[in-house]
Amino acid sequence: MENAPVGSNTCIVGLQWGDEGKGKIIDILTELFDVIVRYQGGSNAGHTVVVNNEKFVLHLIPSGILRKNKHCVIGNGVVLDPRQLLEEIAELRSKNIEVGSNLRVSELAHLVFPYHKKLDELSESEKGSDKIGTTKRGIGPCYADKMARNGIRVSELFHPEYFKERLKKVLEEKNKVFVRLFNTDALSWKDIYEEYSEYAEQIRPFVCNTIAFMDDAIKAKKRILFEGAQGSMLDVDFGTYPYVTSSSVIAGGAATGTGVAPRQIHRTLGVVKSYTTRVGSGPFPSELTDELGEYLRKKGGEYGATTGRPRRCGWFDAVAVRHAITISGVDGAILTKLDVLDEQKTIKVCVGYKIGNKITERFPTDLVAISECQPVYKELPGWQKDTSQLREIRDIPSLARNYIKTLEEILDVRIEMLSVGPDRNQVVNLV
Ligand code: GDP
Ligand code: IMO
Ligand code: MG
Repeated sequence: MENAPVGSNTCIVGLQWGDEGKGKIIDILTELFDVIVRYQGGSNAGHTVVVNNEKFVLHLIPSGILRKNKHCVIGNGVVLDPRQLLEEIAELRSKNIEVGSNLRVSELAHLVFPYHKKLDELSESEKGSDKIGTTKRGIGPCYADKMARNGIRVSELFHPEYFKERLKKVLEEKNKVFVRLFNTDALSWKDIYEEYSEYAEQIRPFVCNTIAFMDDAIKAKKRILFEGAQGSMLDVDFGTYPYVTSSSVIAGGAATGTGVAPRQIHRTLGVVKSYTTRVGSGPFPSELTDELGEYLRKKGGEYGATTGRPRRCGWFDAVAVRHAITISGVDGAILTKLDVLDEQKTIKVCVGYKIGNKITERFPTDLVAISECQPVYKELPGWQKDTSQLREIRDIPSLARNYIKTLEEILDVRIEMLSVGPDRNQVVNLV
């Protein structure tokens, strides 16, 4: 990793269904960068960083915030819940983490309002057994409003009269939906207006023109790390639609989500877990619904960092990860949670999907095919040794090395770093 060419701005993306360990890896890589910028998603993300046994869970603020003398930016592609942001700032400060001029918030970011959260909940309960299993953070409704041109952006908060009128108009429409369609209570524009006017004053010091900030940083040859949230298989275009989130998770989203031109993004690194997890509904071909799935959940601590829900667990799905590598143009990968597989006698990797009587190695584009496919597995011997103390390449057990090499061959990508535990120091550099 230290060999990364100087001046190379790097994008970090999750290669599965989220929770790959991006937060931990971003915290480590932050040492090599000056600016860390989130480009999509909102408080649906939960990025965990453990430093000397102290745990931090970040939802909106980039995971780079824990390091001194770095700038963290919340880009225009993020949907911002100001209450969540302020809570997160207060929590970090209570743990002696500095949050001040090192945090910038884009004035173009769309705001999440209480009506977005209410709509998220109502729409999920309306769907019944077909529900997406969202985090209920209002993400889908907020992005829908953005695209429908009904959204309200951070900059509007600072023009009280204008903001009031827009809020009234938007809420009038939402209240019709609440009352007439869902037969539930209307929300008061006045309550929301007062609440958000108060937030406006509190977030004002952080808000700026982040396009100019990023441009200045690039011209000053600062190194930029783009922090992806969620995972490629939750991407609104390329994931398992409709069981996805509502943003462009992949590396391509880093440009539209920050206003930095694509040619300024020099490298993309994918973070991938040694097995697979997913929270919420939707197809998961290599899912383990048996005792082994339960074992992985316990050993890996697989409970949602945002909602606390148990994560569904399964074997490594190389078909899905290859798809993710293709759409983001991943230059190198970081393999996390290897330690969770330490006790396995045999480890399986899904290398193909059987659909009808055909086997495909390409991720199908249609949900019906994905839902009906059967995983085709390659079996590998487990190393059955504790890897959590590993720090040097030479100490990696040979069968673990074999697992890593096999994944590299199947995925056609170099694995540059290994993570063997939640703590910041539990890593092995492979390059
Ligand atoms: P993110 O959303 O991609 O940042 O990932 P999360 O933080 O939601 O979930 C990853 C979980 O695994 C967190 O609880 C991390 O502390 C933990 N974790 C990260 N890397 C490792 C690792 O290599 N081994 C183990 N055992 N846990 C890890
Ligand atoms: P990080 O950044 C895992 C999932 C939800 C649900 C779907 C849609 O921590 O990896 P949404 O609330 O976004 O409308 O929910 O996406 N989801 C995540 N799963 N990790 C995440 O973020 C997620 N963010 C959203 O569980 O299935
Ligand atoms: Mg997470």
